[in-house]
Amino acid sequence: MPREIITLQVGQCGNQIGMEFWKKLCSEHGINSDGFLEPYATEDDEHFIPRAILIDLEPRVIGSIQTSSHANLFNPENIYLSADGSGAGNNFANGHKQAEKVAEALFDMIDREADGSDSLEGFMLTHSIAGGTGSGVGSFLLERLNDHYPKKLIQTYSVFPNMKEAADVVVQPYNALLTLKRLTQNADSVVVIDNTALNRLATDNLRVDKPSIDETNSIVSTIMAASTTTLRYPGYMNNDLVGLNASLIPTPRCHFLITGYTPLSIVRSEPTIQKTSVLDVMRRLLQPKNILTSTPMKKGCYISILNIIQGEVDPTQVHKSLNRIQQRKMANFIPWGPASIQVALSKKSPYVQTAHRVSGLMMANHTSIHTLFAQIVKQYDMMRTRGAFLNGYQQEPLFEGGLEEFDVSREVVTDMINEYIAAEKADYVNYGLDDHETGIQFLSRMSETRWKLNQV
Ligand code: GTP
Repeated sequence: MPREIITLQVGQCGNQIGMEFWKKLCSEHGINSDGFLEPYATEDDEHFIPRAILIDLEPRVIGSIQTSSHANLFNPENIYLSADGSGAGNNFANGHKQAEKVAEALFDMIDREADGSDSLEGFMLTHSIAGGTGSGVGSFLLERLNDHYPKKLIQTYSVFPNMKEAADVVVQPYNALLTLKRLTQNADSVVVIDNTALNRLATDNLRVDKPSIDETNSIVSTIMAASTTTLRYPGYMNNDLVGLNASLIPTPRCHFLITGYTPLSIVRSEPTIQKTSVLDVMRRLLQPKNILTSTPMKKGCYISILNIIQGEVDPTQVHKSLNRIQQRKMANFIPWGPASIQVALSKKSPYVQTAHRVSGLMMANHTSIHTLFAQIVKQYDMMRTRGAFLNGYQQEPLFEGGLEEFDVSREVVTDMINEYIAAEKADYVNYGLDDHETGIQFLSRMSETRWKLNQV
């Protein structure tokens, strides 16, 4: 039975990466820009409409989608543009307030899509955490989705700002911290898309000076498409979002995933890759330079790894490659769980020509992700100590009674950072338990996650 996922694209970044994702899916499935099957394609249906809802508080990006070659792809009833069209002014609290005001209109669209689904599996949110709309409206939706659809899985593709360049949004530490609280408490799984790493990857690996947003987003859409490939070309495992996440997230709070991809190419250049055997692909996926997060991978350890290998692969090669990786201890795993790399084999699109026989996506849970959150907390602390730019927040309902929401968010994020640090040690099994509690409770905590994931 098909299991539907509703995609919510929010704000400039959310809509831009969402659009690239759908374009890529269309080309992979032989669907034209109006949603109709190309004459050469064979699928079960004739007309495809993304189960996507496009939301923004200012008209520019959605306007450009509506005048693009893919204007007819989306259901026009699934587009929400705020009437005043002035955006959220890079302010989380403003975005959050505006979303609350129009909650009924937003949930009319979401509920209609949910009612039209045979077997809704969950939601996928695409957004950035640094501006005002993707962060504020996105966070509001996460909170409400949790209440309205407590049993449905919520996965996000969350774009983290480039920390190496001067911030294009000066208050990004405030917005990012407030969003991180919701990503910790209200999402089941967060795929971290790190603009710092995307830029490094485009510059170093692909030798593109100053990558454009289109080039960066072409990497993002490759990752997003590859991460959904087992859902789109179902095999015997990982063919639903629940299965995919259950293997990656053994304890509920540590649900932030990193990705790696190889071989990567973007619109401007096509690098020459000599060999693409399964072992090559799996080995390259473990190299920090192919990982799309700017965290010190050598310092932390893997909680879990899932490699999605696409292309013509002999399954015996997979076993050989896994053995080799294990013998050479290429990946450092947590001491309290199984050190296993899961592998899902998936089809390549028959309609898109690629230069490589085999390609691979790694989705992994790695403890070093906490350093990314720690940078945000550090930037937040510096700004908050100076009392900088607080005015805009204090004027919004979220901060009516004072700045407590900031303090609570900082505490939630710090707790999550500490849990990731604790997960690097063998005694993580006792984490958060009183002295008289035992590892049995830890195991039941682990199975609670799986239970929540399984009851969807
Ligand atoms: P407002 O502009 O305040 O209404 O909020 P918004 O959520 O629409 O803002 P936006 O999505 O532009 O968020 C800004 C952050 O997103 C910055 O860190 C940008 O670098 C990043 N960003 C914006 N567009 C894109 C994009 O298309 N791709 C990527 N990778 N990052 C983007």
